[in-house]
Amino acid sequence: MSNTQHDTPVKTFSHERIETSSFLMVVLTLLVLAVGGLVEIVPLFFQRSTTQPVEGLKPYTALQVLGRDIYVREGCYNCHSQMIRPFRAEVLRYGPYSQAGEFVYDRPFQWGSKRTGPDLHRVGGRYSDEWHRIHLNNPRDLVPESNMPAYPWLATATVAPETVAPRMQALRTLGAPYSDAEIAGAAEAVKGKTEIEALIAYLQVLGTAVK
Ligand code: HEC
Repeated sequence: MSNTQHDTPVKTFSHERIETSSFLMVVLTLLVLAVGGLVEIVPLFFQRSTTQPVEGLKPYTALQVLGRDIYVREGCYNCHSQMIRPFRAEVLRYGPYSQAGEFVYDRPFQWGSKRTGPDLHRVGGRYSDEWHRIHLNNPRDLVPESNMPAYPWLATATVAPETVAPRMQALRTLGAPYSDAEIAGAAEAVKGKTEIEALIAYLQVLGTAVK
């Protein structure tokens, strides 16, 4: 062992001081993580590819906004991701990999992290509305080995039209380019629709901005 105050009168920086003080160790570790985090994260707020919508991306229609809320309410994200990674196996199975600019109107995004079922980012247009209707009502009618839950109540429950305009207003505040007319006509557009119609409208638009 080395430096006692007696044999080293000159005070030098010693790594030992950090390693033997849990306080210093914690503070300096946090500092390093904070700087590293900022360097990685902050540029993303200014990059076009992460902040600008991909060409052709439209904000969700009134019915799709409600469908998206049902998707969240029913916890579909617990089993389904919406994020196709740029790997060959994923692209072959699901289609073009997901781009950041496809999610700029998604608040919050539904990327998910669990794949009990398949990724849904490019499911839009893959099946007919009728297929989804039967599948959501009882997945086993179409896929006998499926362990996806049945959602029979969606077919009879109707959406609450008065809830949609405030949601679109909030989304507009956050950058979704809705016109006044779209917001004014929102309640009328979804009147009398069932929850399953709203959810299917949402599923059918997923990932369709990129061809
Ligand atoms: C417990 C996990 C689980 C939950 C929760 C779940 N799913 Fe699934 N889902 C699956 C599995 C497994 C499959 C594959 C078998 C099948 O097609 O039924 C699947 C398949 C699908 C498919 C067909 C995808 C394809 O590419 O073939 C769609 C669409 C779908 N689910 C939508 C939904 C929606 C919407 C919800 C919420 C209302 C939901 N799922 C909730 C597990 C789940």
